[in-house]
Amino acid sequence: MCGIVGYIGRQEAYPILIKGLHRLEYRGYDSAGVALVNPDNVLNVYKTRGKVEDLERFCDTKDVSGTVGIAHTRWATHGEPNDINAHPHFSTNGKIAIVHNGTIENYNVLKQALIEHDCEFRSETDTEVVVKLIEYIQSTNDCSLVDAVRGALKQVVGAYAIAVVDCEDPDMIIAARKSSPLVVGIGDHETFIGSDASPIIDYTNQVVYLGDDEIAIIRRDAPLQVINNDNIPAKIDVQTLELSVSQLEKGGYPHFMLKEIFEQPNTIYDCIRGRIVNNDTEIKLSGVIDHPDRFINASRVVIVACGTSWHAGLIGGRLIENYTRIPARVEYASEFRYANPVITSSDVVIAISQSGETADTLAAIKLAKERGAFVYGVCNVVGSSIARETDSGTYIHVGPEIGVASTKAFTGQVTVLTMLALAIGQLRGTVNKSQLLEAIANIKKLPELIRETLKLNDRIEKLSRTFTYAHNFLYLGRGYNYPSALEGALKLKEISYIHAEGYPAAEMKHGPIALIDKELPTVVIAPNDDLHEKVISNIQQVKARGGSVIAIVTKGDTEIPKIADYVLEIPPVAESVSPVVVSVPLQLLAYHIAIMKGCDVDMPRNLAKSVTVE
Ligand code: F6R
Repeated sequence: MCGIVGYIGRQEAYPILIKGLHRLEYRGYDSAGVALVNPDNVLNVYKTRGKVEDLERFCDTKDVSGTVGIAHTRWATHGEPNDINAHPHFSTNGKIAIVHNGTIENYNVLKQALIEHDCEFRSETDTEVVVKLIEYIQSTNDCSLVDAVRGALKQVVGAYAIAVVDCEDPDMIIAARKSSPLVVGIGDHETFIGSDASPIIDYTNQVVYLGDDEIAIIRRDAPLQVINNDNIPAKIDVQTLELSVSQLEKGGYPHFMLKEIFEQPNTIYDCIRGRIVNNDTEIKLSGVIDHPDRFINASRVVIVACGTSWHAGLIGGRLIENYTRIPARVEYASEFRYANPVITSSDVVIAISQSGETADTLAAIKLAKERGAFVYGVCNVVGSSIARETDSGTYIHVGPEIGVASTKAFTGQVTVLTMLALAIGQLRGTVNKSQLLEAIANIKKLPELIRETLKLNDRIEKLSRTFTYAHNFLYLGRGYNYPSALEGALKLKEISYIHAEGYPAAEMKHGPIALIDKELPTVVIAPNDDLHEKVISNIQQVKARGGSVIAIVTKGDTEIPKIADYVLEIPPVAESVSPVVVSVPLQLLAYHIAIMKGCDVDMPRNLAKSVTVE
């Protein structure tokens, strides 16, 4: 949700900033801009509606010189995406520029107060208020830029990650954060800023994750200084990134989404590695081992997440109840945070988030902690806000996910949640040895089963042509694969803009059956499991009403191919881990339909990868 990049050093800033914006474009792509202080200490701000490549074209004939600058790629919150609302925003005197990710909740109050002091505004954004406030404080108090930024941030209510440059002090960038992520990269005589580490990794692997209410004062050729809003120096914890540049590139695939779908045999392997031990007889998650009492004595598990992560949570909730016998509830984080939920100190709250930055999930965690719960994170991005805010947790370790539609993170989350449920079950003695060994064997087979399932790609590509006409889709599944149906529908709608609904298959007859006609394709998830016969009846119900059915079945199924219109065969897989395998054809179907429709699958309209606003 908006990407920020900054550079100060000895190289030309512009190419570094543009490359960084491309890396961060997954966070928002409705407009982009850059502010540079040129060698004559003039501040040049260029911004335009559109993607980073539009900004590059716009800057083609402009003065882009300078060794200090900040840049931004936007996902609009306040004000439509246009040239004026694009960042950077700048002060009335044209000397100070700011980029911002987040939402300033009290911007209107601050704006009215500034207007009363004759301040004029160009844009509809909340961000312009911050730079005008900094300018106002600086001019009325005759103070330094650092003090003016501090003063402004004390008045601001909301979430922010900001970077500020001032052409009167071209040897400094100020960066600050509260609830929105910001990373500072420390190079050799140069310093970088990024909303995440992806724009930094080409230059240095030494980073500092800014904490809430911290302000980084980044001076040319000087050590990094970090203070809090009260001007008290903060501890600087330099960390070494474990990220490689190749993980951030498409590696020969036309889209990140396809690359990430095909990476899944390896990402699931990485996710499992080191966590199944003692000759495959035990699950070892340090996040659980370090806090055994919290799990042994847990009276309830509450899972909070958003979007795809919530779907993974629905599967996780069932697994936890199954293997641990602890009652589990799964909540949308955005609902949980405002519901005044009953949470006690014997609850374990599990927060699931790929990015580790989702604002609603972070707020849910804070609420759960205030009420005494033990909070466990299941995140992908190492060092993210959620990973740091939770009491303990497990990374899914699937590597950077750049395609906006989540794929490998979903399968990683489900795999980790399966291991988590088993690890808690081991501790509580609610899974017996043979159950555990069987479950472990099933998990270990996943990379190979996914590899096998990926062979469906060509067939799904051909099949997809048939469905580009569709305006609606229905996805049905039961048991562990009811959430798979929800996830399949979400994948399709977010990248192809085809309306799709996921339903528990048996619920269809309670309403959605009215939608069925020959125009509505139904995807039925029907692997061989305990509910197979029941799902066959659901398919019959669709067929009896003239609907067409695409069925995902287990290889060797002799019943469903007789009645379904199209059949996608997956290898035999145990029921409890089947969502991981089933999700592969669902991801490929959404991908190919979107491609056939000419959609931009990596950057679907209106979406952003990391939702750091409410
Ligand atoms: C869908 C998708 C979103 C995210 C949701 C939560 O493909 O990616 O629905 O799952 O925004 O994001 P995280 O997992 O980063 O908290």
